Amino acid sequence: MKQLVVMMGVLLMTVSIQAQVNGGDIELPVPDKEGGLPFMKTLAVRASARDFDTMMVKLTEISNLLWAANGINRPEQDKRTASSALNAQDIDLYVLMDEKVYLYDPDHHLMKFVASGDHRKAVAGSQEIFAQVPVMVVLVSDISRFRMGDESSRLNWAAIDAGIVSQNISLYCASAGLGTVPRATMDIPKLKQVLGLKETQYPMLNHPVGFKKQVVAAPH
Ligand SMILES: Cc1cc2nc3c(=O)[nH]c(=O)nc-3n(C[C@H](O)[C@H](O)[C@H](O)COP(=O)(O)O)c2cc1C
Repeated sequence: MKQLVVMMGVLLMTVSIQAQVNGGDIELPVPDKEGGLPFMKTLAVRASARDFDTMMVKLTEISNLLWAANGINRPEQDKRTASSALNAQDIDLYVLMDEKVYLYDPDHHLMKFVASGDHRKAVAGSQEIFAQVPVMVVLVSDISRFRMGDESSRLNWAAIDAGIVSQNISLYCASAGLGTVPRATMDIPKLKQVLGLKETQYPMLNHPVGFKKQVVAAPH
């Protein structure tokens, strides 16, 4: 009987991992839209984190994070948690972890495989302390999605749209007890190469996301 229970457990684990990984892509669990701190408490604790633990964030937290950042919250209108100029939905989220790089696909709520390898150093740039943070989210605007405006207007809207997504990330992390900081520092030429970006795609900001290092109180 005990053996049967163990075998069933192994089978279930295999099935759930296969359900998550499909041709290198990762299907994300349904985001939890009920949890987290209440809104005003979230604002009260929002702060940039600088010291991160290297412990990996759970897939459920990555799922919530990406949905909160720029997921689809009104499927009937194909609209997002973050507003965007002209509803261009120009911000894409790239997720860099220790072994692979993914692109968030809000339509299917999954992470599409982009590249192998640990490229977090390119996101950390000159602030090398961030290269060990388990999840790095890079906000990339594709300014060709604006259906009007000259280049300067488009870059302005891109910056504003990235700021809105960035604040969603900061607030989700504050609400979920995770640490993050919005950062403009990154190795942009290297990232463009790793992510395979085209001319009209601009890395705007990035967010390291992980657990905050616990501060151990000194003994009295
Ligand atoms: C557009 C923008 C760019 C930023 N770039 C960096 C950065 O490259 N590196 C960094 O450590 N912090 C960066 N920050 C974080 C700010 O330093 C931080 O938000 C500021 O000190 C206020 O602290 P608080 O977020 O805890 O209120 C950036 C913040 C913003 C809004």
